[in-house]
Amino acid sequence: MKFFLHSWFYVSELDDKCVGYISLLTRKGTHYACFYSFAVHPNFQRQGIGKRLFTEVLKLISSDKYINTVGLEVRADNTYARQFYEEIGFYQVSIKRAYYADGMDAICMHMSM
Ligand SMILES: CC(C)(COP(=O)(O)OP(=O)(O)OC[C@H]1O[C@@H](n2cnc3c(N)ncnc32)[C@H](O)[C@@H]1OP(=O)(O)O)[C@@H](O)C(=O)NCCC(=O)NCCS
Repeated sequence: MKFFLHSWFYVSELDDKCVGYISLLTRKGTHYACFYSFAVHPNFQRQGIGKRLFTEVLKLISSDKYINTVGLEVRADNTYARQFYEEIGFYQVSIKRAYYADGMDAICMHMSM
């Protein structure tokens, strides 16, 4: 069996410590990349680290000629993260009802590259 899934894991470091990360998945034969997970350590949030990390990763993706759309899922009640993504340029494309284990919906968002 062959796998054509590629994954990347980017970290943000401060004094040799990881303070934030983003993981990203793509699949050969598609033009889509999916942000799988993204977080900044609570002690380091609201200092611009998340925005810088996300912006750098988007720059890297935009240099990939095959990827024309990036996407992600975010909890409907994560109003800050939703706002964060909208400010970066993501827009809502659909909703997955009761996607999370506690019954919360997922908001699916895309951004064109
Ligand atoms: C989402 C997350 C990664 C953002 O990282 P961050 O480093 O805190 O974000 P930044 O400091 O770069 O913030 C960028 C902008 O977002 C806004 N913002 C940041 N934190 C905010 C908050 N708690 N409430 C409202 N707006 C906020 C601000 O406009 C900020 O710009 P400003 O500092 O110039 O005002 C971080 O909050 C986090 O790890 N949250 C928990 C995990 C999570 O929800 N991940 C997303 C799952 S889909």
